[in-house]
Amino acid sequence: MVFIIKYFLKNLSILRLLKRNRRSLSIEKVDFLKGLQPGTGEVVKFEGKKVAAYRDDAGTLHTLSPTCTHAGCIVSWNGEEKSWDCPCHGARYDINGEVITGPATKGLAKIDV
Ligand code: FES
Repeated sequence: MVFIIKYFLKNLSILRLLKRNRRSLSIEKVDFLKGLQPGTGEVVKFEGKKVAAYRDDAGTLHTLSPTCTHAGCIVSWNGEEKSWDCPCHGARYDINGEVITGPATKGLAKIDV
């Protein structure tokens, strides 16, 4: 019986630790994107990966892979056109990652952060 109680208490503390770490990860995500003003986009590094992040005027965040689907260059934010533009061969993508202009034929992948 004592063994069962010890086993239960040990697993309970592990669950508490996991719950605490999940909360701190959420805070990290909020800090990461806090500086992104409405109507702006930026390629940023998050958890070791590059992310194309755009916050629309309503405050909704759109996060995409910044890797161009044509040949793998990294897109950059075009604030005037509100698009993601590839510097290598001129492909352009809208805020949802859909192709506006080729040579790319496939959109940018969506990323959940
Ligand atoms: S790599 Fe982006 S258009 Fe070619």
